[in-house]
Amino acid sequence: MRTQVGIIGAGPAGLMLSHLLHLQGIDSIILEKRSREEIEGTIRAGLLEQGTVDLMKKTGVGERLMREGHFHEGIELRFNGQSHRVNLHDLTGGKKVTVYAQHEVIKDLVAARLNVGGKIIFNAQEVSLHGIETTEPKIQFHYDKDSELQEISCDYIAGCDGFHGPSRPSIPNSVRKEYQKIYPFGWLGILTEAPPSAPELIYANHERGFTLLSTRSPEVQRLYLQVNPNDDITNWPDDRIWKELHARLEINGEWKLTEGPIIQKNIVPMRSFVCDPMQYGRLFLAGDAAHIVPPTGAKGLNLAIADVQVLARALDTYYATGNEELLKRYSTICLRRVWKAERFSWSMTAMLHRHPDHTPFEQQIQLAELDYVTSSRAAATTLAENYVGLPIEWQAGEKEETIAGFLYNE
Ligand code: APR
Ligand code: PHB
Repeated sequence: MRTQVGIIGAGPAGLMLSHLLHLQGIDSIILEKRSREEIEGTIRAGLLEQGTVDLMKKTGVGERLMREGHFHEGIELRFNGQSHRVNLHDLTGGKKVTVYAQHEVIKDLVAARLNVGGKIIFNAQEVSLHGIETTEPKIQFHYDKDSELQEISCDYIAGCDGFHGPSRPSIPNSVRKEYQKIYPFGWLGILTEAPPSAPELIYANHERGFTLLSTRSPEVQRLYLQVNPNDDITNWPDDRIWKELHARLEINGEWKLTEGPIIQKNIVPMRSFVCDPMQYGRLFLAGDAAHIVPPTGAKGLNLAIADVQVLARALDTYYATGNEELLKRYSTICLRRVWKAERFSWSMTAMLHRHPDHTPFEQQIQLAELDYVTSSRAAATTLAENYVGLPIEWQAGEKEETIAGFLYNE
């Protein structure tokens, strides 16, 4: 088999890349180790930045998102028994965020690829990368465990295979620098069949630990509790979860948390991670393969989408003109934005969680920071512009808007 761009992984990064390349007339094949049912059914986060929504609309995969997504112009921060609204819309000149689950984005992108004959090989086994330092890299795989070895020759490989995939380890250790921070807490996430308790997301700092109230639909709420990352979900019967949610979300005055049956629950650890560079030879990493953020800033999916926007444009430039300059700068362009999102996710995490090693002094500093963010317009603006999403900076000082190209501008 041969294709121009071999893509490993059908998450948001791999699927959106394949979709953008198709719109630019570039051929790709996606290799995904899981089944279509699995990737379309895995519950993940679900908050889209303005830029992610704009890109989906502009490239024809935003129809259901516009119909079923929930558009939020603000978020609520709760601490010391009080609620404070951050007006994202006013502070950012009219930008919003959209709640739309990641697996719905996956469904829309898979459908868009398959409708136009795009090639996604599901259940691909033992995927491996070869010759990434040459001009004809190859991906090998098996259709299933007992079938013979297959090979795809390509011009470029996009490693969109998440944190545990084979792409990142293919970059030699001597070239790859990895930065990591493991947090001493995890998130217990639930889905509950209950109507939203609030019109906007609530991020609550409480002495018992952080809590986030989010939504999914008029019938389903998504909630998270800060827990010990090594805790077992069997220690959390439903009544313990509700008790804890009530305690942590309580405020002085009228407000009620709506309850319903819990239909899904799990615990995930939290880490920050960056791989530098995000490219080597003819291999380009995108999304979780290159970086991980704690979910507090809601940046994971959005970073993946921004990476592949840069990669699609760089590949388009190469195929249209033979100029590899943007491809060579791929990692540098992405990492500028990635590190800012890392900083934001880390700072939201630090500001909102209860840290096991914090002294009373540090707890007061944390409350002072929350007080500052909710009382100073300058501080609130900083939070808001990061939350709705920073622009891609293609060159020092050169913003997204100044680059021509039909996918990237009106
Ligand atoms: N071979 C083929 N596919 C693989 C392999 C492999 N060896 N290893 C992993 N994959 C697939 C996974 O099954 C998954 O479908 O790669 C895909 C990676 O998708 P994601 O993990 O969703 O990563 P990404 O597309 O970068 O999107 C980042 O996803 O994990 C969330 O919070 C994260 O929102 C962020 C977003
Ligand atoms: C979610 O709805 O899953 C969600 C929202 C905001 C976050 C994290 C997760 O910061």
